Amino acid sequence: MLPALALLWALVLGAERSPANSLPRLRLSFQELWARHGLRTFSLPRTCCYEALLLDEERGRLFVGAQNHVASLSLDNISKQDKKLAWPAPVEWREECNWAGKDISAECVNFVKLLHPYNRTHLYVCGTGAFHPVCGFLEVGYRMEEPMLKLVVNSLEDGKGKSPYDPKHRAASVLVGQELYSGVATDLMGRDFTIFRSLGRRPNLRTEQHDSRWLNEPTFVKVFWIPESENPDDDKIYFFFREVAVEGNPGLGRASVSRIGQICRNDLGGQRSLVNKWTTFLKARLVCSVPGVDGASDSVFDELRDVFLLPTKDRRSPLLYAVFSTSSNVFQGSAVCVYSMNDVRRAFLGPFAHKEGPNYQWVSYQGRVPYPRPGMCPSKTFGTFGSTKDFPDDVIQFARNHPLMYNPILPVGGRPIFLQTGIDYSFTQIVADRVAATDGHYDVLFIGTDIGTVLKVISVPKDSWQSTEGLLLEELQVFENAVAIINMQISSKRHQLYVASQSGISQLPLHRCAAYGRACAECCLARDPYCAWDGAACTRYLPNTKRRYRRQDVRNGDPNILCSGDPPRQTLLEKKLFGVEGSSTFLECQPKSLQAQVLWTYQRASDSPRTQVHLDDRVIQIDRGLLLLSLGPQDTGFYHCHATEHGFTQPLRRFTLRVVGAHQAEQLTRGEEAQGMGAGSPASHKLWYRDFLQLVDAPGRGGGGPMCPPSWSSAKEPHLPSVLGPRPKGHKWKHLEEKRKGRNRRTHPPDPPRADRGPRSATQ
Ligand SMILES: *[C@@H]1O[C@H](CO)[C@@H](O)[C@H](O)[C@H]1NC(C)=O
Ligand SMILES: *[C@@H]1O[C@H](CO)[C@@H](O)[C@H](O)[C@H]1NC(C)=O
Repeated sequence: MLPALALLWALVLGAERSPANSLPRLRLSFQELWARHGLRTFSLPRTCCYEALLLDEERGRLFVGAQNHVASLSLDNISKQDKKLAWPAPVEWREECNWAGKDISAECVNFVKLLHPYNRTHLYVCGTGAFHPVCGFLEVGYRMEEPMLKLVVNSLEDGKGKSPYDPKHRAASVLVGQELYSGVATDLMGRDFTIFRSLGRRPNLRTEQHDSRWLNEPTFVKVFWIPESENPDDDKIYFFFREVAVEGNPGLGRASVSRIGQICRNDLGGQRSLVNKWTTFLKARLVCSVPGVDGASDSVFDELRDVFLLPTKDRRSPLLYAVFSTSSNVFQGSAVCVYSMNDVRRAFLGPFAHKEGPNYQWVSYQGRVPYPRPGMCPSKTFGTFGSTKDFPDDVIQFARNHPLMYNPILPVGGRPIFLQTGIDYSFTQIVADRVAATDGHYDVLFIGTDIGTVLKVISVPKDSWQSTEGLLLEELQVFENAVAIINMQISSKRHQLYVASQSGISQLPLHRCAAYGRACAECCLARDPYCAWDGAACTRYLPNTKRRYRRQDVRNGDPNILCSGDPPRQTLLEKKLFGVEGSSTFLECQPKSLQAQVLWTYQRASDSPRTQVHLDDRVIQIDRGLLLLSLGPQDTGFYHCHATEHGFTQPLRRFTLRVVGAHQAEQLTRGEEAQGMGAGSPASHKLWYRDFLQLVDAPGRGGGGPMCPPSWSSAKEPHLPSVLGPRPKGHKWKHLEEKRKGRNRRTHPPDPPRADRGPRSATQ
């Protein structure tokens, strides 16, 4: 008896939905993605931390850097493992590392952190080498050749300033013109952080050492090379990081701040001062916040986690998609903000931040700025200086003392395009894909979280073109466990997403149109720019195919207009049920869309009027259906389940319930068993328990019987994986658990004694 009760109880408690803003329209579990939607996985035995990914479209390869290994996989199917290479740290280094107090198995091994294309035959690769960073060349062959993977052993060199020492540190770097730009700690203790250029023929350059105005305990996130004009002399490298704010109010403690930093590619350092150091380094604050209403303070997303550069037609002006979380213990959430390069450049051309001395505030510098203006690259485009070594002393001195800009960079539209607050996870990674739809272009965002899920989001114009609304189309559990996603790559060409975690790599297509349903309305309500109704099914939308009957409405998602000429969905799913007086029954009806509202109507007889089902502590509506406790004769009748979404209502199911007395039930059962019927017609007391279990359990067993199309039970695991899985942040999780308990207390579950009355009395 207890399992049935526990299940019932779990169902009722599970009915409590997550905050409205975090509900995806469709939620797909790992098992479903694996079984039906082409999810493929890769991992190596006894290997963790698949942190480095290099997408090589030309060779059709995904190169992977992990603990002690590099692998080369097919972009079409990462499960078809092709080549792998063991690259452990030498025993002496591991011992040294262990003597230095580090953990022999968790830290004193080689974590491969960097993988960059170098030339037509080689990659450049770096690892932590047991707190002894090491880099070298990896021979991968020409494009047309058979895939190969070979470490050029005599090319191995010191990786200091290129790869982090500490496996916990992230590597942020870019390789441009056979020079490596990286943001790392250059010492064992992880205190001396620098933005470092190495590997080329020119002298290595770094940031000023031990100057908190330049870098203050930074965490580097991403590095990009972005051209500034047609002249390569103006090219800049942009670093994205977060750090402890120097400009913060000291009374308020250590504030986290997100930054974008710039340097010129042709910087050669200063001649008399800033020798072998950047003379063109500037940084500005990246803001991602929601303005407070009516004097309330802003909701600030202060911790930059990842940046994706979405190319546009103008190669100088890619869009910057960034994900942020919060460092606050009070306000929790994550957000996506978009920045334009115009706004970035405007901030670097704006006023410098200035601090007169230790006891002064940071202000906007009002004095004379020397020429050439610090931050400009020496080039013919803007001036006459051939090299940073020719810069006058006052320029170098000014640059040294004023690395910070006064004006922050605000996101496009002034606020996040998508955010979630009060959630028990955070965003960690982002990639984007620009998709042509019937009504324009949409940027489809794939957001990785720290619980192994990927959120697929689009932003659509709302009312006016000024404001947009973020739509959460799908929540995809791409890993079996709730692991943090640490890297993501997208191939628009192959239409695939590659997602990395500590435990492995997953690959999945960018769309699953058929999962939205089998009716035009369901396809239309999905508002997925990759999908359209083709007259018979929801399938991939390709803009260049001239098939006029392709129907899609991403902007409005209005099936009334789009699907009016279509025949209605397949015949309404019907089900007949018997209930024993005094016991309970469950009418299962769950729309595929978690954003749909379910409405139940009741009809005494087929010719009587339909009324809305009256809910009370005996008739309970939960996510998966309608629970009727202590059945009485008055419950006999027809129950209709409807889904309402985005102003559109569609019928889903019809149940015919007949409530019978216990004596009658026994007769009925005997009759039905003789006829070979069984499941779904609860009758004798013992059978009732068995059948109740079947009814309740049905969605988890692939389809819920004849009443469901096979794909119906899409959300068979409500939030179980995230609730029960290991939590990355202990304290935070505890806090949330308490919050959740508090919320549960406020909901109205049925009285347990009443809930178990039926089953228990049935077996006594
Ligand atoms: C991918 O490769 C694996 C291993 O060879 C194979 O079992 C699987 O069927 C392939 N999947 C697809 C979709 O090609
Ligand atoms: C690529 O670089 C490696 C390492 O410097 C070198 O050995 C190789 O010859 C280069 N390949 C080509 C095609 O230039």
